[in-house]
Amino acid sequence: MNHAPPQTFETPFGSFTLGIHRVDRTKSLRAWDAADALVLDHLFQQPADSRLVIVDDTYGALAVATTDRMPVVLVDSWTGREASVRNHELNGLASPSFTDPLSGFGDVANVVIRMPKSLERLRELFDALRLAPGADVSVVGMDRRIPRSAFELMERRFGHVDGGRSVRKARVLRSSVREVGDSGRRWPAVVEHVVAGTSVSPHAHGGVFAGTSIDAATRLLAESMRPMIDELHPEVVVDLGSGSGVLGTLAAMWSGAAAHLVDDSAAAVRSSRATADAAGVGQQVQVHHQSNLDEVVVPGSVDLVVCNPPFHDDRGQNDQVAWEMYHQARRALRRGGRLLVVTNRHLGTHARLAKVFGNATVVAEDRQFVVVQSDRT
Ligand SMILES: C[S@@+](CC[C@H](N)C(=O)[O-])C[C@H]1O[C@@H](n2cnc3c(N)ncnc32)[C@H](O)[C@@H]1O
Repeated sequence: MNHAPPQTFETPFGSFTLGIHRVDRTKSLRAWDAADALVLDHLFQQPADSRLVIVDDTYGALAVATTDRMPVVLVDSWTGREASVRNHELNGLASPSFTDPLSGFGDVANVVIRMPKSLERLRELFDALRLAPGADVSVVGMDRRIPRSAFELMERRFGHVDGGRSVRKARVLRSSVREVGDSGRRWPAVVEHVVAGTSVSPHAHGGVFAGTSIDAATRLLAESMRPMIDELHPEVVVDLGSGSGVLGTLAAMWSGAAAHLVDDSAAAVRSSRATADAAGVGQQVQVHHQSNLDEVVVPGSVDLVVCNPPFHDDRGQNDQVAWEMYHQARRALRRGGRLLVVTNRHLGTHARLAKVFGNATVVAEDRQFVVVQSDRT
């Protein structure tokens, strides 16, 4: 894990101490970047009386610096939320007022959105925030993270966009809302699929992994899971990193077990809930916005954990989260319980799981992916 020591962030709003804490798993060395600095310069020029809404602040740098303006803060990532809380504490500040799920900001607002990885999330944010005429929308990020399609989306949605100029490779795209528009999209999006002979409909809020499709790795894991459920008769299952919730929902349907669907992303958690409800297993399923399974289930209480772990962060390949998930799964499982993981073949998952569990068996593979099983002994 990353323990970059706290550093001082000089902003027009004052100097703040920001750190990257234990909860962070990226390779970042600093809790802010040039995009945070640029948007704070921009906010400082604006009247302090409009309601400030901050979305997907990475480590809380924006919320900490603008604390006097009492921003409403929306952070999709649980890890990001924890980082923000800790950075507020570091500066002797109360935690900001987090809001979730997405809700409308009918009154005039000044909305700052850190450019999400997915354009679908930006699209959903524009729809969900229901901004009133006069609201000011800024999308901020490093140039390499702001695709042309984000510019075009804002132009279509708000009629105009000011692309600003690049400052230290960061940029703010700005629009002001002239009339209340409706994109015509309804969230979550839904598409029906058949997986291992069962019909399931992933419900996807913006930004969820694979959206309404079923990733080839997810399908391979599901196909391996089906006969295993008949063999194990699990009573408690966990879908760790549940995304749209397809794996946990299928596990609940096939086993009748109680299922915990856990994800770091609020959008994923909402999607998982909708997928399970639509499949008729909502009563069996609990969803958890969390990045640590230890906080969700009693150690030694789970029969089966299924996991298609993340292998990338903003800076590229990073298997640290997957590694932690394997350890969490081991603690959660009862003796004789099983972890079933799918990953890319080249990631050496078999060897890694063998290290954590003392055993690992490849149960399915294709040209790209491998499914590995490990049993808690
Ligand atoms: C590769 S996707 C798999 C999603 C889903 N299980 C599927 O197969 O379609 C990995 C998921 O892990 C989630 N995730 C990332 N870090 C996490 C963490 N620390 N704890 C729980 N979930 C996490 C991501 O938000 C993402 O939804």
